[in-house]
Amino acid sequence: MIADQLRAATQPLNEASSMPAGFYTDPEVFRAEREHILLANWVFLARDDQLPQPGDYRSFDTIGGPVLLVRGHDAVLRCFANYCRHRGSLLAEGTGNSSRLVCPYHAWSYGTNGLLLGCPDMKSAEDFDRSANGLVPLRMESWAGFVFTTFNELAPHLIDTLGDLPERLASHRLDEMRCTWTITLEPRCNWKLILENAMDTYHTGLVHRQTVGAQQSRTLTTRGEWKCIQVTSGRSIATLPGTEPPFPVIAGLDDDARQGTYFTVLHPALQFAVAQDCMWWLNVTPIAHDHSVLEIGGCFPADVVAAADFECNAAPYYERWELVGREDTGILERQQKALGSVAYRPGRLSWRDDQVQALSRWVLDRLPLG
Ligand code: FES
Ligand SMILES: [Fe+2]
Repeated sequence: MIADQLRAATQPLNEASSMPAGFYTDPEVFRAEREHILLANWVFLARDDQLPQPGDYRSFDTIGGPVLLVRGHDAVLRCFANYCRHRGSLLAEGTGNSSRLVCPYHAWSYGTNGLLLGCPDMKSAEDFDRSANGLVPLRMESWAGFVFTTFNELAPHLIDTLGDLPERLASHRLDEMRCTWTITLEPRCNWKLILENAMDTYHTGLVHRQTVGAQQSRTLTTRGEWKCIQVTSGRSIATLPGTEPPFPVIAGLDDDARQGTYFTVLHPALQFAVAQDCMWWLNVTPIAHDHSVLEIGGCFPADVVAAADFECNAAPYYERWELVGREDTGILERQQKALGSVAYRPGRLSWRDDQVQALSRWVLDRLPLG
């Protein structure tokens, strides 16, 4: 990336420009991010409550390859690299429930605890040790029902990266929520553009003029590997304006949390949007410098989910999350396309881009760009 453009991007906000185009368009930058950021940190997989029963499994395509979460028959959730120990076929696809995981290639089979159970025609293989040929376990840690993995044996514990995030979100009691809905989008844009967009209410009056409309926000001070703005609104913005949100304010919500919705980025690539009545998570999986997967999940308090009319009342939330998600990814694809111009020059930042700049600096600080 061009040194004087990088310098301009890291000046105090009132003098700063946006990042050089290469930050979003250069495959070499993406390779460096993969190694130094994405593989070095925690990767969100799913909510714990998305695999409630013994035998439940879910597969994931992550930055470090295919991963499998399995709820064992002992009720313990485990995380494995999703490949067969024989000759490496993908073991499981999608989601399901099974008492054992059978490889579709030559039928090696594994227990829900990862142990190798069956391996036909291996009698003549000398010194073959079944117990050494179970699924490869990966580090897995959880907070408040959010399950993460990492490919970095030396990564600090998840909880130690969260700083004061658990305290800030304590009164929402996220651990008591249930994930009831997900959608997957696949925008042709750089992963960082999605996160910048989440920390920016400057765009809302335009991009979302037909849905949520203009929003105001304040930046909150954080400690730990996360950033936070609060979109100020006395009512939940998890449904579109014009009708009262069907679900009540979460009991016991603290005074700060009643003031609006927290939009957070948990580095490197997970967002939480936490409103007065629910929360939704947005997980970004970077695929290439110009290609990402965005999965959005909606969660509500368990007692709200248990009510008979839940699905009917939840529909307006799902509609809003999908509409706004598509509006955002639409504008981001336009941005990615324009960043590819050979005539591109960075533009000046507004005071409302403060967290956009903060996100770029977080990434830059971790890249060996010389
Ligand atoms: S690759 Fe799985 S049994 Fe052969
Ligand atoms: Fe947006």
